[in-house]
Amino acid sequence: MMSLNNKKILLGVSGGIAAYKSPELVRQLIKQGAQVQVVMTEAAAQFVTPTTMQAVSGNPVFLSQWDTRIPNGMPHIELTRDVDAILIAPASADLMAKLSLGLANDLLSTLCLAKGHETNGSITPCPLLITPAMNRQMWEHAATQRSVKRLLQDQVTILGPASGDQACGEVGMGRMLEPIEICDALIAFFQPKLLQNKKVVITAGPTYEAIDPVRGLTNRSSGKMGFAIARAAVEAGAEVQLISGPVHLETPLAFLGKIKRVNVQSAAEMHAAVMSQTSCDIFFSVAAVADWRVNQIASQKIKKQSSSDTLSLELLQNPDILLEFVNSLVGKSSFCVGFAAESENVLEYGKKKLITKKIPLLIANHGPSTFGEDSNQVTLIDAQGEVSLGPANKLALARDIIFQVSQRLSK
Ligand code: CTP
Repeated sequence: MMSLNNKKILLGVSGGIAAYKSPELVRQLIKQGAQVQVVMTEAAAQFVTPTTMQAVSGNPVFLSQWDTRIPNGMPHIELTRDVDAILIAPASADLMAKLSLGLANDLLSTLCLAKGHETNGSITPCPLLITPAMNRQMWEHAATQRSVKRLLQDQVTILGPASGDQACGEVGMGRMLEPIEICDALIAFFQPKLLQNKKVVITAGPTYEAIDPVRGLTNRSSGKMGFAIARAAVEAGAEVQLISGPVHLETPLAFLGKIKRVNVQSAAEMHAAVMSQTSCDIFFSVAAVADWRVNQIASQKIKKQSSSDTLSLELLQNPDILLEFVNSLVGKSSFCVGFAAESENVLEYGKKKLITKKIPLLIANHGPSTFGEDSNQVTLIDAQGEVSLGPANKLALARDIIFQVSQRLSK
């Protein structure tokens, strides 16, 4: 799935050692369907050559405002008129200071002043995103922090920096985000802000019910659908509380700081984590919660008995987390979405769960064919009827689900 299809990005590269990652960033952007026009500063060309940037972007690179390749001699105007966003990676302390003061003494700084997207003869400012990269002392310096403040006031989006090992050998704030993170942040930037400032709680993955210290009951849920919904919700502008069962997945868009994650094992732990949420605008109950737990968890590994070839376990029913959360919300305007993974009669069982769980929307799918997969197809069931989505990649599906939920919220 290409999330930057039809997007034209002007990638500015300024002088910093992180420029060695800029060719990889170009590749990531192109992989997502973007067209990339590179503009470099003189200092950037000390770290990565224009030839490299031309080869990976497939377009001639511009460095100078005196470049004669643009017919009217005004590259600082013409280069931004058809771009959807300017992305500067890396953004050096010097470039940030210049941009924050409106200085324009080279091509990149000048086009950031003149930037504008032309549609039907009228010019609208095109967005500017920057990814700072510098030594931690430079980042923490009062002058750089003044630049940050001014740039934020000017509606510049600042991505990062991250903290960690630096090229100079020091450790601290100032590392440029990784190319894949920058690309994901740009993708998120372009998504419609359908859930701006909404608080969203999501459960995801399976639960694990211990039998003894080495064995347990679980299910085949991978958590991919719940994590895709978490990512799509952040892309839509939400603050997300993700409550995850045992899965092997990274927190999506973690570097944006919009997702808080709590890891749990058992249904009882997931229940406690959900019930501690005092308020939310939307609750997505995506987790495949184990319906039963073992009554007496053995304190040591259960040994095979020569006298018997069967083992009996007494199972107790777990709390229905979604139903209990819904019941606790009386008088609050939270919108709760349930998921039903069935192995047969998907629609029939889904419709029943819409009623038994007392929720306004249930998303039904065929569990065995989707658990662990990257794609899925689902049916949204509500009082108005049914809407089918997919088959599609789980992230695309998650974005469609966010759209469908946002439509219902605004009614
Ligand atoms: N759910 C829950 N707590 C449980 C069981 C299910 O919160 N103990 C939630 C799931 O997260 C999902 C919805 O209820 O949103 C439906 O889950 P599902 O496992 O399909 O249904 P069950 O209620 O467990 O019913 P059954 O196992 O009989 O199909």
